[in-house]
Formats: sequence, C-alpha cells, structure tokens
Amino acid sequence: MCGIVAYVGDRTAYPILIKGLQRLEYRGYDSAGIALFNGEGARVYKCKGKVKDLQALVRDKEVGGSIGMGHTRWATHGEPSDANAHPHASMHGTFHVVHNGIIENHVHLRSELARRGYAFRSETDTEVLANLIEDVYREQGVSAELAVRLALTRVVGAYGLVILCEDEPGRLIAARKGSPLVIGVGEGEYFLASDAMPIIEYTDRVIYMNDEEVAVITPDALDLKDLYNDVKTPEIKTIKLSIENVDKGEFAHFMLKEIHEQPFSVTDTFRGRVAAGGDKIVLGGILDVMPRLVEARRVIIVACGTSWHAALVGEYLFEKYARVPVEVEYASEFRYRDPIVDEGDLVIAISQSGETADTLAAIRRVKGTGATRLGICNVAGSSVSRETDAGVYTRAGIEIGVASTKAFTSQITVLAMMAFLLGSKRRTLPADEYRELVTGLTRVPEMIAGVLEQEAKIKEIAHLYKDAPNALFLGRGILFPVALEGALKLKEISYIHAEGYPAAEMKHGPIALVDERMPVFALATSDHLYEKTAGNIQEVKARGGKVIAIATRGNEEIRGLADQVIEIPPCHEALSPLLAVIPLQLFAYHVAVARGCNVDQPRNLAKSVTVE
Ligand code: AGP
Ligand code: GLU
Repeated sequence: MCGIVAYVGDRTAYPILIKGLQRLEYRGYDSAGIALFNGEGARVYKCKGKVKDLQALVRDKEVGGSIGMGHTRWATHGEPSDANAHPHASMHGTFHVVHNGIIENHVHLRSELARRGYAFRSETDTEVLANLIEDVYREQGVSAELAVRLALTRVVGAYGLVILCEDEPGRLIAARKGSPLVIGVGEGEYFLASDAMPIIEYTDRVIYMNDEEVAVITPDALDLKDLYNDVKTPEIKTIKLSIENVDKGEFAHFMLKEIHEQPFSVTDTFRGRVAAGGDKIVLGGILDVMPRLVEARRVIIVACGTSWHAALVGEYLFEKYARVPVEVEYASEFRYRDPIVDEGDLVIAISQSGETADTLAAIRRVKGTGATRLGICNVAGSSVSRETDAGVYTRAGIEIGVASTKAFTSQITVLAMMAFLLGSKRRTLPADEYRELVTGLTRVPEMIAGVLEQEAKIKEIAHLYKDAPNALFLGRGILFPVALEGALKLKEISYIHAEGYPAAEMKHGPIALVDERMPVFALATSDHLYEKTAGNIQEVKARGGKVIAIATRGNEEIRGLADQVIEIPPCHEALSPLLAVIPLQLFAYHVAVARGCNVDQPRNLAKSVTVE
C-alpha cells in the first residue's frame, strides 16, 4: 500500500530516497517517483513499475540536491502509468506533491478548478489537490503553508502528504489525515516516511503525526500546527527498531523468515506477561481498564483479513474461558452498519499494521458510545493503537511479507492471554485449568520449532499440488478459523483459488468440487471433534479426493485415511491453532515459490490497506 519518503538536511537526498522507497516496497505498489530540489527548480523522475525501474530512469540524470521526496503509488484513481505516478506538480509548477490516500471529493474540485482554467496531466485525485493548493496560493496571496492548510479544509478524504513550494525552497510541508506519516528527527536534518522503516537507520527519534496536523520542516526547525492554525507540540518518541529486522538474512523471502521466527515472536509476545510458574498473566496495557473488561457484557471484535481469522479464534477462547458473548465483525461491514453498542461492550480492534482504514473506521464508529475500545496491534504508535482506550501490542517484530504469518500467531497468543486472564478474574476459569493453559502457552514456541523441522516434507507435498486449480481447507471448532487462514495464505501468494470451510459444511455444497485434482486439507488434531473430522476425510476419499491431514503426533489411524499426514505435537486444544497453522503457512509458501510467484509482494496486494 503506497509509500512516502522525504528528506531535508545537508546530505544528498537521492540515495536516502531510493533506499527509503526500497524499504517501503513490502507495502505493495505499482509506480514510483522522486522529486529533487537544489534551489534551481525541481527535477522530477517517475514511472510505472518498480523502484529498480525508477533507478534505471535516473541512471544518467542529475540527482543532486539536499531536499527531496519519493513515492510508491498503489493506484486508486487512474491506472498505473508514468503520467499518474507521483510526485504531481501543480499546473504552473509551483507545488510538487506526493500523496498517500484518497481525495474523495476530487471530481467536484477538479470541475471547479477546470472552470478556473486549470489543466491536468493525469487522472489522479492527487493532481487535483496540487492545483487546489496552487489556486489558493495564487488567489489569496498567502504563504505556502497557509495555502496548504486552507486547501485541506476543503478536502474530503484521507491523505498523507509531503509538499514543496518552488517559491519557498529549503522547506517541506507535511500533512496527515487518515494515512500515516512519521517524522524522523535527526541532527540538522529531518526524514519523513509512511512508517518507520526508511527512518530507523538514521535516527531512533520519531514523531507520529496526528490527523489534521500540518508540519513545516527545514533542516533546523519543525513547526507543527493543526489545520486551524493552532500550534501543536511535537511529541518525540524513541523507537526500538533495528535495521537487521529488515533484512532477510539467510532466507529467500521475508515471509519464510517470518514463518521461522514464530518460536521467537510468540515468546516475545508472552515474555514478561506470563509468570514463570504459569500461574499469573499481567497485561500492563489493559490494567487501567481491567474492571471494565471484567464487567463487560459482550465483546465485539473488528478486524480484516488474517486479523479477522485471529478474531474468530479469540471468539472461541473468550466464550469458553471468560464465558462472555463474542461477536466477530468484518470491520468493513461494521463501519457502515448501525450497530447497537453501549457502555457494557468491549470493542477490540485487531490490526497488525494498526493502519487498516476499515478497522480504524470501525473503532471510530463506536467512539462516544461508552464502549471500552481496545487495540491489538503490532506497530507501536500506529493509528489504531493511539485511537483506542488501551491495548496490548503483539510484539511480533516488523512483519514485511504481505502475507501475514507471525503476526497471526502473536495475535492469537495475545487473545489467549486475555481470555485466560479474564476467565481467571471473572472466576469462570478454575485455577488449576488456568495454570495448565498458561503453562501450555509457554511451551508452544518449542512445539512450533518442532513443526518447522518438517519443512522439507511439507515442501514435497506442496510440489505435489502446486498445479491444483483449487484447494479446500476444512476445520472444526477452534480450528475452523485456521482453515480459513490456510486458504487465505494459499490464494493470496500462489493465486490458486482456495476456500476454508467448517468441515461439517462440506456436505452442503463444496463436496461437489471434490475430485482427484483438488487437495483437501483436513485439520484433524486429536481434539473432541476428531472423530467427526475423520468422517469428513472419509467422505472426501470416497469421492476420489486427495486429503492432506494435519494430525496430532501418535495418531496412527489417520495414516490409513489421508494421502499425506503432517504431524503436530500434542497440545491443549485451546492452543492448537498456534501449531496447526504452521504447516499451512509453509505449504502456501512453497506452492507459491514453485509457481514462481512474488511471495513477499503478491500481485494487487498491499501490506497495509490504508484506503477503503
Ligand atoms: C493477510 O495475509 C493479508 N495481508 C491481509 O488479509 C491482512 O491481514 C489484512 O489486510 C489486515 O491487515 P492488518 O492486520 O494490518 O489490519
Ligand atoms: N489516490 C492517489 C492516486 O491514486 C494516491 C494513491 C496512493 O495512496 O498511493 O494516485
């Protein structure tokens, strides 16, 4: 999902911009561009394609200048093309703009500007904004910064913006509403980016811009205001990210690295939150609201994609152990409904990026209802984490692969800790079972490591089915969401159509799809529903289908039922999603690699969907 990088200081901007755009590639994009300023007018280079195509375009060009901006575009208005790539200049070349987000009233503004004589070179909403700023600037004779603020008061939509005015060289103007912008604070220099990744190798001091804030930045000063000219005090935070987190190391792809990181990321998620004796959980981020959580009459979880699958696992855990009703909602649907929410409700937003537009909108939808709003996010300082009353960070570390893996298992780990803790506080979970669950959770990392050791076998199975036209994933109970997640993993990186289904539902339609070419995954761990799932396997086999079973080690019967068996260690049923998902992640990865797909940046996808 699009990206912005900008620099103002005393270094040459070009290498900082290019490396920054490369660090944002994981977000997904279709075009790239930069603008460089050295006091003699802007030099703009932009093209459809990847950052490497932009580098090729610039190869023999002049790239001096200590001020610059860069952009990776994820097209929303106007096809991917050289003309639609950013930066966009206003008609008279006074303003240069890079933009993340959507100007929703761009059609109206474009018509008005066209009537005033403005011509356009692109189909984008962004160019409309560039001309709107120029029109205000020329008509009202105000400063560039005031022109930006006045123009933005007329804009409906979301933006992360960096703007340069040719009449006021030496300074950048940044504005944010709905699309994140982070300012890196250096010594006599500032960096801007859509997230901290392009910044962390230069400084650990950052400012997360808030909605409707405008910053004017020169090498030695940063002035922050809101749209209405109220001076704001920048809140400088120190981030604890390191550059090695963003390298693949010995792995071929970030996704594979992140799959293999899960023994460590799950450990990081519960480290310091689970007492060694397994008899206590402390979640500091929700301590202040714990009384409201204990009294909650209902839990509503809003999320998208993989995070929505984690929410479904949470539903099983909260209902079983905390005995509280749970509703899991697609954030994109919830935000447009007229939900009945009040002070007895606990609304939890789950989001790896903390920037997903639908999830952010859903949590804003319940503001003022009296409900307690919690965030379960992986990115500190992200919008969801800042717009909720409290929350728990998943601490999975930077997740770069567009297909979410370690964030999913960390989200489930947080949800499990919350469910067990609430169950203990609400006295719906007996102390001995609480201790058994918490102790079991601390053993999950070593079990995940054991499953990862079967990668070679899983890779072989993946090669058997890499040309399948479809795939079906079946699960029951707490493993049904894992079936959904396995299907999503496969389809989003290998482009094979896949569906996850409650195993019992197969008889109500999908069994018609079963033939010898379609792999059917059966999540058949030794839980209280195993016999039923074993029956479903036989139904598939009776129709010539191929079954890959995820089964508990020691189950010999399953070998006579399924075509292939991948074993996971015995574990408490409540924790089985953390183990059962690992083979599905590896299967999807190896199928995608075998099919020559772009595993880390699948087509059409973005790491964080910050637009609707
Ligand atoms: C998952 O592999 C996908 N990348 C996607 O479904 C993702 O989970 C979804 O966009 C939600 O993102 P979030 O967790 O950052 O809100
Ligand atoms: N809406 C703008 C465009 O389509 C920006 C898209 C983005 O966020 O990359 O160019």
